[in-house]
Amino acid sequence: MKLVIINGPNLNLLGKREPEIYGGTTFEAYFGILKQRFPRVELDYFQSNIEGEIIDKIQEVGFDCDGIVLNAAAYTHTSVGIGDAIKAIVAPVVEVHISNTHKREEFRHVSYISPVAKGVILGFGLQGYDLAIQSFLG
Ligand code: DQA
Repeated sequence: MKLVIINGPNLNLLGKREPEIYGGTTFEAYFGILKQRFPRVELDYFQSNIEGEIIDKIQEVGFDCDGIVLNAAAYTHTSVGIGDAIKAIVAPVVEVHISNTHKREEFRHVSYISPVAKGVILGFGLQGYDLAIQSFLG
C-alpha cells in the first residue's frame, strides 16, 4: 500500500502558525509518528506553497500510488486546477483539514476538492491524517 500525503500553502509553518487553531506540532514530527503507526504502509510526504507544484505532484503520483491524503489548505477554497487534477488521476483522494472549516469564515465553507474526493475529514486536528490513512486500509 503506497500513500502520499500532500500539504498545501502555509502548512510548512505548522507548530508556529496560529497554534490555537492548528496546534503546536510540526508536520515533520507528526509524519514520524504516522510512519511508526503504519509500518506496512509506504508513506510519502510532499508540501508546497505553490499551486502548480501541487498539481504537478498530484499528476506525478496519481497513476501509481494507492491513494492521496490531500490538505490543499487555502487552495481548497479557490483552485479549479487542483480539482481538475484530482479528476484526471486514478488514485482516490481523501481531503483533510486540521480545523473544522465549516465553523470558520464563510469563504472556507467552499471546497473545490470535496466534490471530487473519496471522502472528507475535518476538524480533528492532525489526527485527521491518521484517520485518512486508516480509511484506505479498510
Ligand atoms: C486548513 C483550512 C484552510 O481554510 C486554511 O486555509 C489552511 C488550513 C486546515 O487544515 O484546517 O491553511 O486546510
